[in-house]
Amino acid sequence: MNWPKGVTIKEVGPRDGLQNEKVFISTEDKIAWINQLSETGLKHLEITSFVNPKWIPALSDAVAVTTGITRVPGVTYTALVPNQQGLERALAANIDEVAVFMSASETHNLKNINKSIDKTFPILKELVQDSIAAGKLTRGYVSTVFGCPYEGSVDIEQVIRVSESLFEMGIDELSLGDTIGVANPKQVEQVLEVLLQRFPTEKIAMHFHDTRGTALANILVSLQMGITTFDSSIGGLGGCPYAPGASGNVATDDLIYMLDGMGIQTGINQEKLLNSSRFIQEKIGRPLPSKSLQAACSVVNQD
Ligand code: HMG
Ligand code: MG
Repeated sequence: MNWPKGVTIKEVGPRDGLQNEKVFISTEDKIAWINQLSETGLKHLEITSFVNPKWIPALSDAVAVTTGITRVPGVTYTALVPNQQGLERALAANIDEVAVFMSASETHNLKNINKSIDKTFPILKELVQDSIAAGKLTRGYVSTVFGCPYEGSVDIEQVIRVSESLFEMGIDELSLGDTIGVANPKQVEQVLEVLLQRFPTEKIAMHFHDTRGTALANILVSLQMGITTFDSSIGGLGGCPYAPGASGNVATDDLIYMLDGMGIQTGINQEKLLNSSRFIQEKIGRPLPSKSLQAACSVVNQD
């Protein structure tokens, strides 16, 4: 089999990981954690969301976090931005990259951002234009690519339509979300076969949640299809409050363990990564889903 020499990991734990947590992680702890992550070799960190804080209270301190961290040169700091009000806050905090987001399915889009898909397009178009004009990198997310918690299966034509519109707006990269972790490897192959005929492989990232334990298998198939950018979350933290049943992203710890073992370079130091996982696990106050984190913790506990 042909495996790539290296892959890019985009850490979304501080955003996707924390947005669904009941425990409010203090601003100080978030900053300390992101500073640790900046030293692991990760080059892309999605650190917060400039959404309506009433919708996502866990990330209501977005400005304080973004302005409080120590920026490491070479690391790109990203945040989710839903509208102009969010962009104003994100620009004031000097974020490096703006991530816009919407869904392939109508009902999830409505529940998540309170608008129809058609009403979302012009808002995101202006957002992307203004972000580019402000000198920011831009990323687009499509949620519910492999299934919707409200509608079930999602027509690939819907995914194509939303993806095409986001690329036309000028985004640098598109992240395809398995929001509720329903995808299987064969489905990933089928979806990518269609999408990669239309969009450049190097501009596609995969964003798998591991609700049903298929995320690493889905990543292996994506690697075989030529994808080399993956979103993941430390410890397997994560979920979408507007997607019932969604659990954590694929754990960065497990992904790095697998890729390192396969000789696929990530540039990430496993030990530093595990230390940052332990740090946030302690703050959250329960064992996180990552298997390699739990294996590492059990070795420490036996000592
Ligand atoms: P809305 O309530 O329809 O907004 O929310 P609105 O424009 O009608 O404004 C209502 C109030 O919100 C106003 O305040 C605004 O000022 C305020 P009021 O007058 O009532 O006091 N407001 C804001 N405040 C601060 N920052 C803002 C902002 N916008 C409005 N940016 C909105 C529309 C999109 C803002 C809302 O629905 C929202 O914030 N949704 C975010 C939901 C979310 O974050 N979901 C999780 C992230 S997506 C995800 O996890 C999927 C992903 O990981 C990929 C995958 O897994 O598939 C990316
Ligand atoms: Mg997600």
